[in-house]
Amino acid sequence: MTLRIIPSGATLGARIENLDLSQPLPDDVFEQLLQALGRHGVLSYPKQELTAAQLRAFSARFGRLEVNVAGAYQESGLPEVMVLSNIVENGKPIGLSDAGQDWHTDMSYSHMIAFTNVLYGMKIPHRDGQPLGNTEFCNMHAACDGLPEEWKQRLDGMTVLHDFDKFWEMMRRERGSTRPPLTPAQRAARPPVSHPLFLRHPITGRRVLYANPGYAVRINEMDERESDEALEFLFAHQTQPAYRYAHRWQVGDVLMWDNMGTIHNAIPDYRPDEPRLIKRCQVMATRFFHDDGTPREAAEALGA
Ligand code: SIN
Repeated sequence: MTLRIIPSGATLGARIENLDLSQPLPDDVFEQLLQALGRHGVLSYPKQELTAAQLRAFSARFGRLEVNVAGAYQESGLPEVMVLSNIVENGKPIGLSDAGQDWHTDMSYSHMIAFTNVLYGMKIPHRDGQPLGNTEFCNMHAACDGLPEEWKQRLDGMTVLHDFDKFWEMMRRERGSTRPPLTPAQRAARPPVSHPLFLRHPITGRRVLYANPGYAVRINEMDERESDEALEFLFAHQTQPAYRYAHRWQVGDVLMWDNMGTIHNAIPDYRPDEPRLIKRCQVMATRFFHDDGTPREAAEALGA
């Protein structure tokens, strides 16, 4: 079967229209999706009708699924499916509210980094006929290519420290946040980890800029002041409008993105009385990396 892949025409994004994700994927279709995800960074599949178990089964084709620590917001009986929502029922939130996260890449603070997030839109707020709560992306292949030559040379071979606590503290500063600071035990369970600043993307074979404002705290090979200045430059560079793409949600959309080739930001432009409900699976990059972080052979990783 040949997929109908319709590029958005922007720097990222393509729509796939002739696929029912509730059904098991034949190997040749899966291979086309993998290539399309590397090439376009963000894929959407409109008009899907999925159970949480079908969302999990589709996501699990791409790699090991992460079980999120926010246990209260897991789908009942399916811990790999997380509920994102601003809906409150009987005084209790039914899902994790992710508004106000700002630009980041999921799980960059982990030794095993994230490959793709798979989200299923079940309730999408609209106002004046326009969808709210867009998910925005920036293209890290383009950001890498677009770095001035002197910066490419200066940063070549360097590594970045990613810290979960940076993001946690940023979310704590959000209006209305009730998050306590991480305890010493929670901090110890998620120590900062380092990754190369430039990654060779396992699908495209091209270099991507692997740093993000949410978690990156230090360029290890620089002193603190030099590192702060370089990160400030990189964050401004990677989020510039030329690299941006926004997904405008409709109910029934499945949206997936490549966390190595993009960074993302959920726009918090809807009110508490404008319900949003998304189910989400987080797929780790286990098809590309061994547990110790070394890359798998290309043929093994791509299933060739
Ligand atoms: C996410 O960061 O996984 C969620 C993005 C969204 O809710 O739009």
